[in-house]
Amino acid sequence: MTKPINGFSKLSKSEKIDWLAENYLKNNENAVSILKQYWNEDDKLQKLHDEFIENTVSNFYLPLGLAPNFLINGKYYVIPMAIEESSVVAAASKAAKFWSERGGFKASVINQKKIGQVHFLFSGDFSKLQRLFKIIEPKLREAVKPITRNMEKRGGGILSIDLINKTQDLENYYQLFAKFDTRDSMGANFINSCLEKFAEVLQEEASKFEEFSAKEKELQIIMSILSNYVPECIVRAEVSCPVAELSEDKNMTGEQFTEKFIQAVRIAEIEPYRAVTHNKGAMNGIDAVVLATGNDFRAVEAGIHAYASRNGSYSSLTHASVEDGIFKFWMEIPLALGTVGGLTSLHPLVKLALDILQKPSASELMEITAVAGLAQNFAALRSLTTTGIQQGHMKMHLMNILNQHKASEIEKKEMVEYFTHHTITHSSVIEQLEKMRS
Ligand code: MEV
Repeated sequence: MTKPINGFSKLSKSEKIDWLAENYLKNNENAVSILKQYWNEDDKLQKLHDEFIENTVSNFYLPLGLAPNFLINGKYYVIPMAIEESSVVAAASKAAKFWSERGGFKASVINQKKIGQVHFLFSGDFSKLQRLFKIIEPKLREAVKPITRNMEKRGGGILSIDLINKTQDLENYYQLFAKFDTRDSMGANFINSCLEKFAEVLQEEASKFEEFSAKEKELQIIMSILSNYVPECIVRAEVSCPVAELSEDKNMTGEQFTEKFIQAVRIAEIEPYRAVTHNKGAMNGIDAVVLATGNDFRAVEAGIHAYASRNGSYSSLTHASVEDGIFKFWMEIPLALGTVGGLTSLHPLVKLALDILQKPSASELMEITAVAGLAQNFAALRSLTTTGIQQGHMKMHLMNILNQHKASEIEKKEMVEYFTHHTITHSSVIEQLEKMRS
């Protein structure tokens, strides 16, 4: 059995790979060369990537695709998307084109507040704790001035700090619940630094508050951390057009399409099994933009799914209606994104992605990202309720199957031509490839 290793992080990159190969890859030369094959020739660029995280041994590529023709609030965008799933960028582009011919997408940020909490235990009289909080609130704000000064210059900062009594849910449990405006930054470091300072001041002030008994003075900080649940950082994206303009298919009227489409949305509103997949389709668009623009997709995912369950049952993020012959399809989601700080100024491709989007503010990026999610969900529902999803999916997947079977460029060209007139399944592709090769 392989022994654990001490001081792994201190080894050089090559030493780490040698250790890995020796202990876990049976000294497989090919595995080692795969890892090294993805190193960037430009040492400076590689060093940048090495230093993003600990124990980097290689780079992990994802395709960066472009979805053009997104008309959002009257302005055209090309949306960069980092994603591995074959049909996503194609679907986004198709939906963008479709809606650009019908007035485009409207998007707006409803609010943009971020949240952080100091979680602590206090065993004693709540009214005394309230009095302490009232006295120290200005001190909390004063203590974080060195952290908030720059943010305040940019128009942001701390919006509110509240004391919350959670003892009904958990014995002795209280919070400082703070709201922040972090302007164009995602603000995680800013918020967490403020919270840790709040915690320090709270504990110190409690320890010398005259009204407190000795036990009450032992107020215990459990942790201080931002929340990735941001129900007051909401963006709305919407499309609408006359029902009659919705169908491009001669076999289906706009009314027939709308009826089925709205039923599909209703199903996702009431049926969690479907809602998860429905929302996953929207996340295909959202995550791809979040990743390409160097934002934290895990935070976005966690926050959005919590929001989708806010009424007690997991439900659809998108909604649809028809009123006076006008079809409307919309989504409201929480999105805490940044366009300054973090990876945005470090990763060359992230910087480029933001340039492609014409250097958006955080609120513009929220709008663009929500639109990508809405477009993706529209494209998925349109396929699902008309042709079925596999037609488009397999068309994009064809190249993956051909690559898996090491098809040459000539073979690929012939196969693509053949399958424009035949149904693509995994076995039909292999069968045809074998036929061609024999
Ligand atoms: C696949 O990545 C996404 C879909 O399953 C979404 C949906 O079912 O709505 C097609």
